[in-house]
Parts: sequence; C-alpha cells; structure tokens
Amino acid sequence: MKEEKGKDYGKDVIMLSKSEIPTHFYNVLADLPFQLEAPQENLEVLPQIFPKAILGQEMSTEKYIPIPEEVRELYALNGRPTPLQRARKLEKAIGTSCKIYFKREDTNTVGSHKQNTAFAQAYYIAKEGYKNVVTETGAGQWGSALALACNHFGLNLKVYMVKCSYEQKPLRKVVMKMYGAKISPSPSNETKIGREMQKKFPNTSGSLGMAIAEAIEVAKEREDTVYSLGSVLNHVLLHQTVIGQEVKKQLEKAGESADVIIGCVGGGSNFGGIALPFVADKLAGKEIELIGVEPKEVPSITKGEYRHDYGDTGKQTPKLKMHTLGADFVPEPIYAGGLRYHGMAPIISLLANHGLVKAESYSQAECFEAAQLFAKTESIIPAPESSHAIKSAIEAAKRYKNKTIVFNLSGHGLLDLSSYEKGLGLV
Ligand SMILES: Cc1ncc(COP(=O)(O)O)c(C=O)c1O
Repeated sequence: MKEEKGKDYGKDVIMLSKSEIPTHFYNVLADLPFQLEAPQENLEVLPQIFPKAILGQEMSTEKYIPIPEEVRELYALNGRPTPLQRARKLEKAIGTSCKIYFKREDTNTVGSHKQNTAFAQAYYIAKEGYKNVVTETGAGQWGSALALACNHFGLNLKVYMVKCSYEQKPLRKVVMKMYGAKISPSPSNETKIGREMQKKFPNTSGSLGMAIAEAIEVAKEREDTVYSLGSVLNHVLLHQTVIGQEVKKQLEKAGESADVIIGCVGGGSNFGGIALPFVADKLAGKEIELIGVEPKEVPSITKGEYRHDYGDTGKQTPKLKMHTLGADFVPEPIYAGGLRYHGMAPIISLLANHGLVKAESYSQAECFEAAQLFAKTESIIPAPESSHAIKSAIEAAKRYKNKTIVFNLSGHGLLDLSSYEKGLGLV
C-alpha cells in the first residue's frame, strides 16, 4: 500500500530530536556581574559527604560543563528532550490574548524534572567507586528519581522520606521500592538527630530540613556512603539547565520569544533549570520576567530573611547565604510536599536580591483550583508543586496583553491523587 502522510496536528507540540539534547550544563555564575557569598561554618563536612566531581561543580565558575555521554544517553532513554506545548484550551478558558506554553517535565520516566540531576549525580558517585547513597525526599519525586538512577548504576539507596508524605503518598514508596531503594519515615529512630527531633517535636509531620539532617548524619558516619541532594545547591541547578536550554531551542523553532518564564520553587531547582539560561539575555537588556512561585504556607523568598543559614534542621551543613524561614521552621503539612523547605537556592536568592527574579506566593486552595482548570482544559493532572506555576501563569495571562508566557510543568500528579481528593473535596 502506498504510504500516505496524515494531517500534522503537531504545531502546538514543539519537539526536538534526540541529538538536540544539550551537550553541556550551563553555569549562570560565569555570566553574573556579582558573586555568591561563600558558605560559612561546617565546611569540613562537604568532602565527607559528597563525591569530588560534585564538589568541583558546586564551586565551579566554568560557563559550560560537558554532560557525560552516558548521562545524555540515559536522558534520551528516559524522556529527553521533553516537549514544549501550547496551552490553547487554557488560554481560551481564561479569555487571554497571551500565548501560554508549558515545558513537559512530567513526561520524564519517573514523572518529574528530578531525574535530570539524579542521573548526573549517580553517574559521578559510581565513577568514584562508592557503593551506597543516602538521601531525603519530600513528596517522593526526588526519591523516585534517585532510586531509578542508583539502580541503573548499581548503587544501594537509602531514603529518609518526610513523615507526612510517607503517610499521604504510599504509592511513591512502591515506585522507590520497585527500583530497589530502602525507605524510612523521617524523623526516624535510626539516627541521633531523628530521635532528638521526635523528642523535641512529638507527633511532628516531619520536614525536609529534618530528613536532610538524618541523611547527612548517616553519610558523615560511613566512609563508603555519600549523600545526594535533589535541590538547592549550585550543582543541582546546573544539571537542571538542560530544561531551559531546550526551551530556548524550542521557542526559536516556534518563532517565539518568551516575555515571562515561570516555575514553582521548593529549593529552586526546576525554576532555576528553566530560568537560568535566560538570565544572560536579561542582563543584556532583553525584557523578560522570571517568576518563582512558592506556597503562601512556606514563603521563603517573599517573607524569609536573606542571611546565612543552615540547610538542615540538625545544623550540620555549612550555612548558605539564602532566603530562609529559619532552619527550625516546620511547615504546615500542605500537599505540595516538595515545596515544604525552609530555605531557597543561594543562586535564586541572589538573583531575587538583585531584582532579576521576582517571587509570588499563592495558597494551596488557589493552586489546586488552577490545577483542576488545567486538567479540564489541557487534560494533564499536574503535580501539586507544579500547580503553583500554573496559577501564576494564569494570573500573568490575565494581567498582560499579547505576551508569551512559558511555565515549567515540573511533574505530573498521577501519584498525588489523594492530595487532590482531599484538597478539592472530590469525595
Ligand atoms: C514535581 C515537583 N516540582 C517541584 C518540586 C520542588 O523542588 P525544586 O524547587 O527543587 O524544583 C518538587 C520537589 O520535590 C517536585 O517533586
């Protein structure tokens, strides 16, 4: 039979070929006219818990760092490059003259952007001969991504999962266990800091700060074990820049130029990933708004102080200059578990302090309503974290005329359905 070409319905879904997966991570620090302030205290901990390659990237001011071919291949096999998609039905529902695009990090194998850094970190850890990795997870997305990556490189993974997520998201545990990871709810009885936290805050729902403290304690005590963090630090944002580099190419293909870039912010990695590659354009005079969106319940940029603070509740990490609500802050058990962190990435904090990044905050109720509108119009159930970016994109589309708005859909919510059931009263 003669092969016929069907009608192309793809103009609103902008794809890249596998060979267009970025070849380098982009380091925004090389382009900034100002510098990050050095961390303070506990600096001796860093080489005890991180592999050398990761520490090198954490301190690096090289503009481009090559992505190892094995990592690029894993990206290719697990969803990269991800599509950039136009949200025409959402635009129509709002009645806006703006164009709204979203970057589909939900299409990655484990359902979020977190695997971009997980594959890179697991690669460097395995290359340096370590066998065991320990981490924390808030919503379970980071734990799932690192479990996938560690399994690929033959590494054993232990995850301390924030207690309220452990209870709210049982299926996330199954994902991590499928890939062979071991999980404990945090605070646990397994670490000194976990036992202390339980004494200090009886019946606590846990926090990322506590779970990080437990993981770091374990990594500090064991020679053969390293720690891996899924957000906040420079090297994590660096790895996530594959997102924004792809978006740039995709906008070019579509003949578009972004006026507004939006991402939700927990520790700042998915927002950094999409926004940092646009910072140099902004510094060169292009008018572009970069908006990080946080929960009203955890307002680290909008309400926090800009000062040196610990990354964990156990105060074992160096103090980083960042926007913080205080290392002892225990957030409400909101359903966007990945946004319940007391601090903000030093790079995002610095950019916010210099007015290059704006911050907005919305309540869980407003964001869940936006998530439902997105599901009804664009068919995708977003992660509760990503619903913050959707809410902000809707507000921008109402505020402006004829602008091009791009937001990062950092993950899907198909394992967060009980959160929507409760949060939206869908019973
Ligand atoms: C889907 C999703 N989006 C966003 C976040 C927030 O983290 P970050 O600010 O590092 O992107 C998380 C964290 O777990 C997440 O799972």
